[in-house]
Amino acid sequence: MKKKLSLIVALVLMLSLAACGSRSNSPGNTPPAANAPDTPPAGSAADPEPSGSAGTPDTLPAAAGDGGILIAYFGVPETDGTDTVANASRVATEGGVVGNCQFIAQAIRQAVGGDLFAIETVQEYPGTHQPLLDFAYEELRQNARPELSGEIENLDDYAVIFLGYPNWNADLPMPLYTFLETYDFSGKTIIPFVTHGGSGFSRTISTIQELQPNAAVLTDGLSISRGSVPNAAQEAMDWASEILG
Ligand SMILES: Cc1cc2nc3c(=O)[nH]c(=O)nc-3n(C[C@H](O)[C@H](O)[C@H](O)COP(=O)(O)O)c2cc1C
Repeated sequence: MKKKLSLIVALVLMLSLAACGSRSNSPGNTPPAANAPDTPPAGSAADPEPSGSAGTPDTLPAAAGDGGILIAYFGVPETDGTDTVANASRVATEGGVVGNCQFIAQAIRQAVGGDLFAIETVQEYPGTHQPLLDFAYEELRQNARPELSGEIENLDDYAVIFLGYPNWNADLPMPLYTFLETYDFSGKTIIPFVTHGGSGFSRTISTIQELQPNAAVLTDGLSISRGSVPNAAQEAMDWASEILG
């Protein structure tokens, strides 16, 4: 990995450690609203997006040397009648219809290579909008840890983990909690990217830092509004290339 990236890993680790304890979002987390909106209530404490705060490096912290790249992502493409351009959780591509995070993950891979890993659950999520909102809200309310259906078999091969997810209820989707509690990314670099309906990352980067205290977590991740996703492939490619450049 590039020298300049290695030089700032210590700083990011310090920032990660400093962030630990600043938020208690795991067990006992309180859902932000009673009816699982796409966007959290105005003025909600869960809504502000803290990424890119003062002192945050704008380039990648590389925790390891020349290790491989894993691009792990979660998402639930909606199959109902949502407009595929303006507001959808899906993107029509030449290879078929994919979710927003999958679309960005594929663009990142195109730019920097690496292995794609879809974070999938044993349970199936509803593919239509309101049932999905209700289902996800209930998972959040119960602080659920949905069982994952696949696993990363060669984790040691990876030094850099791009981690993509949709903002759900101003939080990580609950399968991301399972994922981050299943694997130990100590000594690796986690680079978050999110797609969302207006909330950006909310506080999810802090949560990732809490769940992976021994990883270097890039606090200035890529945040893309769902309406922009179909046109954001180049932005994602440029961002990933710049980070690893
Ligand atoms: C269950 C659920 C909850 C959501 N909650 C929020 C939210 O709190 N804030 C927000 O900006 N967007 C929210 N969204 C919108 C998604 O973040 C957005 O549609 C995202 O691009 C979906 O990505 P995907 O297609 O990879 O699943 C929510 C969507 C769903 C399905």
